[in-house]
Amino acid sequence: MGRHGRSTLQFAHRMSRVTASPTLRVTAEADRLRRTGVDVIDLGAGEPDFATPDNIKNAAHAALDANFTKYTPSAGVLELREAVAARYHLDYGVHIKAEEVILTAGGKQALYNTAMALFDSGDEVITHSPFWPSIGDQIKLADAKPVFVQTHREDGFVIKADAIIDAITPRTKAIIVNSPCNPTGALIAEEEMAAIADAAAARGIWIIADLTYERLIYDPVPHNLVTVLFDRMRERTVICSAASKAYAMTGWRCGWAIGPRELISQCNVVQGHSTSNINSITQKAAIAALTGPQESVLRMLNEYRKRRDSVHAWLTADPRFVCVKPGGAFYLFPYVADLLSPTGIKSTGELAEVMLKEVHVAVTPGEGFDAPGFIRLSYATSIDRLKEAVDRIGAFVKTLEKDGRVAAMR
Ligand SMILES: Cc1ncc(COP(=O)(O)O)c(C=O)c1O
Repeated sequence: MGRHGRSTLQFAHRMSRVTASPTLRVTAEADRLRRTGVDVIDLGAGEPDFATPDNIKNAAHAALDANFTKYTPSAGVLELREAVAARYHLDYGVHIKAEEVILTAGGKQALYNTAMALFDSGDEVITHSPFWPSIGDQIKLADAKPVFVQTHREDGFVIKADAIIDAITPRTKAIIVNSPCNPTGALIAEEEMAAIADAAAARGIWIIADLTYERLIYDPVPHNLVTVLFDRMRERTVICSAASKAYAMTGWRCGWAIGPRELISQCNVVQGHSTSNINSITQKAAIAALTGPQESVLRMLNEYRKRRDSVHAWLTADPRFVCVKPGGAFYLFPYVADLLSPTGIKSTGELAEVMLKEVHVAVTPGEGFDAPGFIRLSYATSIDRLKEAVDRIGAFVKTLEKDGRVAAMR
């Protein structure tokens, strides 16, 4: 520390442009409390509460027993690259070659490699807001400038092609679309994606589709974004996704990017100089996940749907929780501005802090998603715990009323 208590350590300029992930921050505080014996209900974490399905774990045991514990090719073993391609053929009807696939440490690294391989200083990259924070921060880490196009709760946070296209300038290098979206759960309609793709194709702009929650869509709505993009601009399309959410495999770190062979080779250069291949055992497990029976994905989806419907109904019984019912992913994103006041709790950041402290429910404040006034609740938790959480939140709101920290409901 220097004389004035300020750190004298000099970090790279780029570090001043980014902040630690707000979702990880909430998890850390909830963890700290839990370690001191507090019964915390964590609705902050963005990960399935289910165990990884047995067929996947068995494949990992077998890999370990067979000593499959060495380096693999940096982009992943051929069998897994082919398994990703086969999965997309089954799910979307597209033909993908193994060399158009790279395996990455989660969907996060798929997006990061792509950012590193594509973006330069001076480039603009359009995406939508509220957003998953890493999208904007990865753009900044690549020295480019994120351009956020607002989506609105009044129309279900849908992404509108016109708004995206209006944000295009001669500097636009890429457009990143996240569907289903974290934190809003909104899906982009195929026609809107098509209109964006037509505009991007005409201008030589890349489209990066973050489909991390692609298997967690609750209603039978058309969502074949892969075909929409491939038909229009395959040579500038990147699909980023992961085994993390669909197969309850967040800790295994398995994601992938699918794109033109030349781009995937560039991603492999980035990865080859940073993390190299993803865990060898994870790769064998992921082959089982992608090529094995898919019933467990459906079972988890059905359970998430039940939870979504229940928690949405419980929460919105209090009109101060204004909440769109999400079409995908596993988050509710209520607008709670009615719980804030200049003399009481002033921001959703403060609300989340006080809620964690007083009733031990962890939620993620909207500020980190560029959405002050909102909180994100993950319903990837058992229904009993969710009911308990909503009861605690109800009791918390009552206490706020009693203490005059929020106006009583009429
Ligand atoms: C929108 C979105 N994209 C990508 C990811 C990355 O997922 P992972 O790296 O865990 O596969 C996440 C994780 O929460 C996410 O919410």
